[in-house]
Amino acid sequence: MNLNLRVLAGPYQGRVFTFTQADTFLIGRTTDSHLYLPEDRFFSRHHCILEITPPHCRLRDLGSTNGTFVNGQRVSEADLKNGDRIQGGETVLLVEVGEVPEQSPDPDAEELKSTVVSVECLNCGRYDQAQASAAGERMSFLCEDCRIELKNAPQPIPGYDMVRVLGRGGMGCVMLGRDQKTGKTVAIKTLLPEFAVTDKAMKRFMREIDVASALKHANIVDFIDRGTHNGVVYLITEFIDGPDAAKLADQRGGQLPTPEALDIISQVLDALAYAHSLGYIHRDIKDQNILVSGTWPNARAKLTDFGLAKSFTQSGMSGVTMAGEMAGTLAYMPPEQLRNFRDVKPQSDIYAVGMTAYSLLTNELALNIARKCSMAETIKAIFEQPIVPLRQRAPHIPLKVCEIIERALVKDPTQRWQSAAAMRNALAHSG
Ligand SMILES: Nc1ncnc2c1ncn2[C@@H]1O[C@H](COP(=O)(O)OP(=O)(O)OP(=O)(O)O)[C@@H](O)[C@H]1O
Ligand SMILES: [Mg+2]
Repeated sequence: MNLNLRVLAGPYQGRVFTFTQADTFLIGRTTDSHLYLPEDRFFSRHHCILEITPPHCRLRDLGSTNGTFVNGQRVSEADLKNGDRIQGGETVLLVEVGEVPEQSPDPDAEELKSTVVSVECLNCGRYDQAQASAAGERMSFLCEDCRIELKNAPQPIPGYDMVRVLGRGGMGCVMLGRDQKTGKTVAIKTLLPEFAVTDKAMKRFMREIDVASALKHANIVDFIDRGTHNGVVYLITEFIDGPDAAKLADQRGGQLPTPEALDIISQVLDALAYAHSLGYIHRDIKDQNILVSGTWPNARAKLTDFGLAKSFTQSGMSGVTMAGEMAGTLAYMPPEQLRNFRDVKPQSDIYAVGMTAYSLLTNELALNIARKCSMAETIKAIFEQPIVPLRQRAPHIPLKVCEIIERALVKDPTQRWQSAAAMRNALAHSG
């Protein structure tokens, strides 16, 4: 499935931007924009951003002065469909969704072919419509009502007894379970696709999960199994008997003592040094994805959800590239990951580690925004706002430690710690 942005008017008239995979597209007057409009006074520096997961596309105005228009209406947020026109200043973009016709000499220049198929909810049998690439394409689909219901009251997964719900996240929920064959305690994570998913996309997702499951490290949650049941994707992992780092900090009144926080961060960096050396990027490091068992000084921290958010989105199961329901921790995402969702480097994980450390130590975000502020505000702050010096929020933290963490949070990835090992080393020599 393709999504084209065809420029109908303005300085880029005639150009077509083609998306075949999840990506972001930024429009504004800064050079880091994908549609860079330095001369057009109509546009703000960071004017609006499109989150694209073909065939879906969501537009967010980033609090621009002159606004973003869709089919003539000013919008702050909009889900775009085939034929919609985005307008700002002299620039007009046409959204085209569909398949590139076969034997097309120049796919960019061709009109896309759009097919709508009927899909059946695998949980309740209700019919709906979805964009497909071919008329006969098979798709897994869960209707909106079933998604909500299954998130609140998860269904049993064959082969496992459900013990209790451990937590709910953006994509589904996590339960404590027991393997009926071995009696072993496990964690069961269910993922509820937001959209109809083709068999091909589902296979791709499973392949990516299998690849990530090869990671074996003392500080990474062990992967056990995966599968689908009635449209629900499930992952079985080792159960960690302990809170995630966010809950741990909550239990202590919001923040952790410096040595305890640094112990957890160092273990996470060990996990990353290992994973990065094998070419894996986590992409969603945050307090909630670090599970901690035991107590300091003998605590063991383990990183979970390796590459999961990306695989989920990339296979078209979730509508938005960067966040959507991950909005709670969008603030941890480095600017280059917002701009170039697909090409992230180890340094992007290091930035998120810095954000995590900052939050564990201070109970605050490094950016001067409220935890519950809008996504547009968060995105703008990520691009434009300097971080609040750690010392300002927590004068008790040693200066050396502050410098190490702040070096992880530099906007330019080339100015950060270049490897997890280097940052880990610096922390080890900070006290
Ligand atoms: N293997 C596990 N063992 C024990 N508890 C777990 C395990 N995995 C997750 N949890 C608990 O379940 C909670 C929810 O996890 P989940 O991954 O669904 O949500 P999240 O991390 O907050 O968001 P996201 O969906 O973006 O990952 C976690 O914060 C953690 O407390
Ligand atoms: Mg998680």
